[in-house]
Amino acid sequence: MMEIIIDESSPLFSKEDMQYKEFSSDFTKIRYYTLVLVSSAPSRIKESNLLEQQVSELIKNGISHGNKNDPRKILKIWYSFTNKNARLIVEDEGEGFKEIKAWNDFNRKRVECIRSGNINELANFISFRSQNSKEKDGGNALFAALEYWDGGIVFNKTCNTVAVKKTFAVTNDENLSEFKPWDINSDHPAK
Ligand SMILES: Nc1ncnc2c1ncn2[C@@H]1O[C@H](COP(=O)(O)OP(=O)(O)O)[C@@H](O)[C@H]1O
Ligand SMILES: [Mg+2]
Repeated sequence: MMEIIIDESSPLFSKEDMQYKEFSSDFTKIRYYTLVLVSSAPSRIKESNLLEQQVSELIKNGISHGNKNDPRKILKIWYSFTNKNARLIVEDEGEGFKEIKAWNDFNRKRVECIRSGNINELANFISFRSQNSKEKDGGNALFAALEYWDGGIVFNKTCNTVAVKKTFAVTNDENLSEFKPWDINSDHPAK
């Protein structure tokens, strides 16, 4: 079962070889901040804007839930995008994501409903709401995030820093140099 974990000593928090930027918490600039980060990624890992979308959800959470859209509060971001993996660490100045256990319980029930085809019950697990949820919060971005960040979603002890990792099929330069540009539908080189 995939779930969000709390582990301060996770290797996902290693900042070695990562680039660093910090942004003021201006909600209207989230797409811009995201582009600034993702523009450093090799084009083959961008996957039709999926990378950009997933990165922006984490920035959105840091600015909105963490820093409460206060432009004086800073969002710190470490990032590394290569052909092997995408890694991101987002640190906000907020109180932290206190409901991780509740979120995991909610998601587990949600996945069980989907697996068992219990469509009626599934209606109760569409959107995760906490005391801090606002009207416009969809309450569902982290469900897809857990699937996308297949190397893990890990929070630190105070739950105001999240580290994520996504791995990609092409794992070494040898594979890359054999890659045939006309083999556009495959992640593997043509034999
Ligand atoms: N950086 C954070 N600080 C505090 N709470 C967070 C943070 N990131 C996520 N959360 C909590 O996780 C919940 C689910 O997040 P998400 O799936 O992105 O939905 P939404 O942002 O639309 O509420 C949020 O409502 C919030 O309670
Ligand atoms: Mg969100």
